[in-house]
Amino acid sequence: MVELTLPQNSKIKTGKTWEAPAGSDGPIKTFRIYRYDPASGENPSWDTYKVDTSKFGPMVLDALIYIKNEIDPTLSFRRSCREGVCGSCAMNIGGRNTISCTKGHDEFKGDKITISPLPHQPVVKDLVPDLTTFYAQHAYVQPYLITQTPEPEREWMQSPKEREKMDGLYECIMCASCSTSCPSYWWNGDKYLGPAALLQAYRWLIDTRDEGTGERLDDLEDPFKLYRCHTIMNCTQVCPKGLNPAKAIASIKHMMLERVT
Ligand code: SF4
Ligand code: FES
Repeated sequence: MVELTLPQNSKIKTGKTWEAPAGSDGPIKTFRIYRYDPASGENPSWDTYKVDTSKFGPMVLDALIYIKNEIDPTLSFRRSCREGVCGSCAMNIGGRNTISCTKGHDEFKGDKITISPLPHQPVVKDLVPDLTTFYAQHAYVQPYLITQTPEPEREWMQSPKEREKMDGLYECIMCASCSTSCPSYWWNGDKYLGPAALLQAYRWLIDTRDEGTGERLDDLEDPFKLYRCHTIMNCTQVCPKGLNPAKAIASIKHMMLERVT
């Protein structure tokens, strides 16, 4: 029988607890946060921060910024826009991937919220995942216009109706919530491109100005890159922008089928 051994650092210790700072008189919420510094050689831990929610804004990211600024400056996480447009603050909050700058801490029942990095990615530190493979997959689908005909004098034209075809696709902010919530991506993330890259691939496949359709489909034609999608639908459930990567993937499979029939 196969004997499976977990990597040493898969055991998560109970870490430190920070009580609410003196002078806290508003509603107290407990944030249980995954802490890991691979450089330390230590196993990861769950650290607990009790905070007065009247001291910061309504979003989970506001709480993290408060904890970092006022309680524990060693906590690491990514953020930039705080407006749901850059995608950098994605993490797993209360068991679900999402972006922390648009997720209200009052949306969670009870007084405890557990936060960990996006699943199944190497961790750079704490809540910061290493997305090198994810970005390489995005680059692989050539997310730009491919053309052979000579450049028009002014611009590549498109009617409003043609432009509408990209609604629900161009809004992707590359947060990686979808891909890292997908079991197929967890097990084959090095070979399966994942929902985010495939949604992007479809965005260019249906762009009426693009002339690279055959080449784009050829690049997806193998047992893993596209066909490892088993329509589990986690991607569509978690997308914080309300997009539907599963539908985009199904549309690419349909295009594949159409060109051989
Ligand atoms: S499709 Fe949604 S969940 Fe996936 S990367 Fe784009 S915005 Fe994030
Ligand atoms: S900080 Fe930019 S999407 Fe959250």
